Amino acid sequence: MAAVRVQSIAGSGLTSIPSEFIRPVHERATIDDSTNAQIPLIDLADLDAPGYRGEEIRAQIGSAAREWGIFQVVNHGISEQLIQRLQSVGKEFFDLPQEEKESYANDSLSGVMEGYGTRLARNLNGNREWIDYFFHMLWPPSIRNLHVWPKCPSSYTEVNDEYGRALLQVLNKLILVLSIYLGLKGGGLKEALGGEDLEMEMKVNYYPPCPQPELALGVEAHTDMSAMTLLVSNQVPGLQVHKDGHWVTVDYIPNAIIVHIGDQLEILSNGKYKSVLHRSMVSKDKVRMSWAVFCTPPNNKVIGPMKELTNEDNPPLFNAKTYEEFKYRKINKLEQ
Ligand code: OGA
Ligand code: NI
Repeated sequence: MAAVRVQSIAGSGLTSIPSEFIRPVHERATIDDSTNAQIPLIDLADLDAPGYRGEEIRAQIGSAAREWGIFQVVNHGISEQLIQRLQSVGKEFFDLPQEEKESYANDSLSGVMEGYGTRLARNLNGNREWIDYFFHMLWPPSIRNLHVWPKCPSSYTEVNDEYGRALLQVLNKLILVLSIYLGLKGGGLKEALGGEDLEMEMKVNYYPPCPQPELALGVEAHTDMSAMTLLVSNQVPGLQVHKDGHWVTVDYIPNAIIVHIGDQLEILSNGKYKSVLHRSMVSKDKVRMSWAVFCTPPNNKVIGPMKELTNEDNPPLFNAKTYEEFKYRKINKLEQ
């Protein structure tokens, strides 16, 4: 049975949302009731500068990963043009006629996540999320299933290939800094994540306008299973992160990349880096889109607190297991 897309529901002209999208009162949120605090904004222009200047930036990255588990970076080396092209090919896909998008439908119930999707399973409260998405593997090239990627617009593949390569450079820089901040050898953290086998997955999130945004959620509160997630969005704000008991709305900064620490970095660092709890809001009259790239170890990589970071006084806080097993347990809500 074909899934009813949130985009189709939104486009049908209703003025109140179907009941499965209505959140229990304690989960409801608007951008206005978040605090005015801001997540750290870090300028990477002088990241490799000698002396104090470079050191200061590297320390900002380490402490943001530790205190917040999320930060935004500018001057990261990816051009504004490339980010714009990434956004326009993604938008063009979602602007295609519905029938054409359906030819890319995934089959998440059978475990085939790649392609065009909508989460159908309700959560324990019977709720659904106000979002459709397109998901595909991005890196390394050997794990891509290019036949799944949108053929329209025709530049989709080329642009995403270019973005994936550019983003890997940013990721490598950040991992190196985060490795050294933990007191590890420079390459230590990257190696623990699988070295050159580290993977990236692209999820293009599409949040249609919602007639009752104050009752719904885009994605409900979660931490990412990845090691790190690198995200860009269009100009419509909506991402919120949880910090010290409050929700903080992430400001839109043109061309910034939002860096989330995910579960695998929290585990490897034995809790030093924090996997950030976050959620997203929807808007009454605007489409919100975001491009989340999940950076993950390969499935068979065993992830546990790094030996160099544990001792008698700092016992391991997490059990080691393969990334595949971690995902299985998290999706099925089993104890880790
Ligand atoms: C996600 C996510 C937030 C956003 O896809 O995991 O948290 O801003 N997205 O779209
Ligand atoms: Ni997320």
